[in-house]
Amino acid sequence: MSNEFPSGVFRLQPAITEELDGYLRTLGLLTKGESILSVERAGEGNMNCVVRVRTDFKSIILKQSRPWVEKYPRIGAPFDRALQEIRFYRMVENQPAIASRMPALLLADPDNRLLCLEDLGTAGDCTKRGPDSPFTRQEMADVAHYLSSLHSLTAPGEIREQFSNREMRELNHAHIFRIPLDPNNQLDLDAIVPGLKQESLKLTTREEFRAAARALGDDCYLREGTTLVHGDIFPGCWMMTDSGLRFVDPEFSFFGRAEIDVGVVMAHLRLSRQPPDREAWFLESYHPPSDYDPQLAARFAGVEIMRRVIGVAQLRLGGGVGFRRELLDQSSDLLLGGVTAPR
Ligand SMILES: Nc1ncnc2c1ncn2[C@@H]1O[C@H](COP(=O)(O)OP(=O)(O)OP(=O)(O)O)[C@@H](O)[C@H]1O
Ligand SMILES: [Mg+2]
Repeated sequence: MSNEFPSGVFRLQPAITEELDGYLRTLGLLTKGESILSVERAGEGNMNCVVRVRTDFKSIILKQSRPWVEKYPRIGAPFDRALQEIRFYRMVENQPAIASRMPALLLADPDNRLLCLEDLGTAGDCTKRGPDSPFTRQEMADVAHYLSSLHSLTAPGEIREQFSNREMRELNHAHIFRIPLDPNNQLDLDAIVPGLKQESLKLTTREEFRAAARALGDDCYLREGTTLVHGDIFPGCWMMTDSGLRFVDPEFSFFGRAEIDVGVVMAHLRLSRQPPDREAWFLESYHPPSDYDPQLAARFAGVEIMRRVIGVAQLRLGGGVGFRRELLDQSSDLLLGGVTAPR
């Protein structure tokens, strides 16, 4: 993977520039008499350059993928991930139950790996929602309804193939199933929370856990399926708006198993210390595909918790090493089958 920015490609910056002005005019996104008033980063994403552009008449979101991870430019990432995101928005645009819960794709510029999206407002995503600001029943239903609709979408084999998103899936596979459990991964866990390295050894040196994670990753996550999954449906993609939650960022989407998304939701309800009934509220509104397996969802939840505690993609969890120990215990119970998802 090359980290060079390709020549001839428009480069989005979080600033008002002549290039941006010219670019937006060429695309028809700025009209005569309209000028840019402000450009700012839209949120706290890591992977891409995402900015909010305000003009005299409107506010829009521009999102560009580059051949690197935006927050860590030395780490390469698939340049084409914006193409998958465009593909996803186009796939669901005629499915009101899905499209109405996402921003509208106002314009796609595949050559520049750039999307122009409807601005969902500045209330932000749900990464800061913890035990003091628990999710409401309606919000859990919003997540469930979005996923139920997504997971019921069907597509013929040739479309599913175009959607395989292999490079992104392999990147995610490495960060979820392999790197956190690699004893030589060089992650300085004690710099995150003192004592975390010692806690991590309970999982990373346990062959039963390692083998179960490996099997889930290789035999299930990487396998093609028939269910459209969002692929990264954690609270950073749940946007709060006046008319309920909306969902963004389908760059890791593919046709796989519904349990992948369900497991991520379950994991993040625990990671954000939500009261236990939130999971029940979610599950009572979620309508799974006919081959849905709650044990499989629990296993995905277990691995997601593990990788968020001892992997690269850290969250602001709060709490100390004791909370992380509890989470790692839950991870082990979920992955190894001691705890199953209710349903
Ligand atoms: N359509 C939108 N309207 C309003 N805000 C948005 C919109 N899209 C994205 N944002 C804000 O920008 C943030 C980053 O967007 P997004 O998650 O799409 O980027 P990303 O770089 O892929 O993030 P990540 O590193 O989590 O994958 C969101 O969490 C949200 O706060
Ligand atoms: Mg993303």
